Amino acid sequence: MTDLISLAANAPKAELHLHIEGSFEPELMFAIAQRNGVKLPFASVEDIRAAYNFSNLQEFLDIYYQGMSVLLCERDFYDLTWAYLKRAAADNVIHTEIFFDPQGHTARGVAFADAIGGIARALGDAQDKLGMSSKLIMCFLRHLSEEDALATLEEAQPFMALIDGVGLDSSEIGHPPSKFERVFAKARELGLHIVAHAGEEGPPDYIWQALDILKVERVDHGNRALEDGKLVARLADEGMCLTVCPLSNLKLCVVDDMKAHPIRAMLDAGLKPCINSDDPSYFGGYVNDNFAALIDALPLTRTDVEQLLRNSFEGAFLAAEEKNKALRRLEDYLLSVG
Ligand code: HPA
Ligand code: ZN
Repeated sequence: MTDLISLAANAPKAELHLHIEGSFEPELMFAIAQRNGVKLPFASVEDIRAAYNFSNLQEFLDIYYQGMSVLLCERDFYDLTWAYLKRAAADNVIHTEIFFDPQGHTARGVAFADAIGGIARALGDAQDKLGMSSKLIMCFLRHLSEEDALATLEEAQPFMALIDGVGLDSSEIGHPPSKFERVFAKARELGLHIVAHAGEEGPPDYIWQALDILKVERVDHGNRALEDGKLVARLADEGMCLTVCPLSNLKLCVVDDMKAHPIRAMLDAGLKPCINSDDPSYFGGYVNDNFAALIDALPLTRTDVEQLLRNSFEGAFLAAEEKNKALRRLEDYLLSVG
């Protein structure tokens, strides 16, 4: 088991489900709050961590939006992103596709240019200094209106060269993918990649809608797909990647126990899950911690772990040549460990 954990830890991998605002460690949050003269409703880093006990998605989101409210200028977004990228590199992430939530910033008066500018500058440095490639995915907050999402897509126009895709996140139940049909149609016309959170708390029908109405190329989470055999068959048939987040699932009570995590069932059903950290600062671990937690709790074989690692590159929005290069790097690593 320990061997499998280190095999996964040392392997080159991609991370495809990571909210940059969810990588905000309390130490950095305090430092940025102080330099911006913003008061946090917590006395210490320990107090912040102690508040990270959630019984559902909404309880987490309330504290997540509060945390990001100390981010005000370009440098803040750079520091946040650079801290994640360095930490991800330590987990042998060689390619990352990160989400950001512009509406969580522009609604507070932060300039779109400052948020995306700081994030993109750090991603450029990751390529130059860490050899890490990346894609940037702009998420729409689904608890807000479609008009708000359309206005955000409009506001993003001057920055299209920095944006690779759009996604859908925040409170799932009561905010089905169908609510965002028009804005995703526009995003597709712009040639953007399409993803959406679906089936984290919401029913299988939301996953059908993500496929049929939004025309997603990946499903973020997708846990509840397993309740619907026809949906499982469709996802397996299409080789649809599911960006699964085990520690997130545990912290948000999507699963009661890691031993009951559906990753085993997903693999057995011929689905294509990969492993991700979602909001690592809030959920207690980065991508390698997620692999370790699964391997500890479940009877995963080396073949399973290899498949999860391969899926991370196969599901990535890399051009064919880059994808093959990354997959070859993984195969070379797997051969080298014997
Ligand atoms: N689910 C939905 N919205 C989110 C999440 C999540 O896990 N993390 C940040 N926004
Ligand atoms: Zn997420």
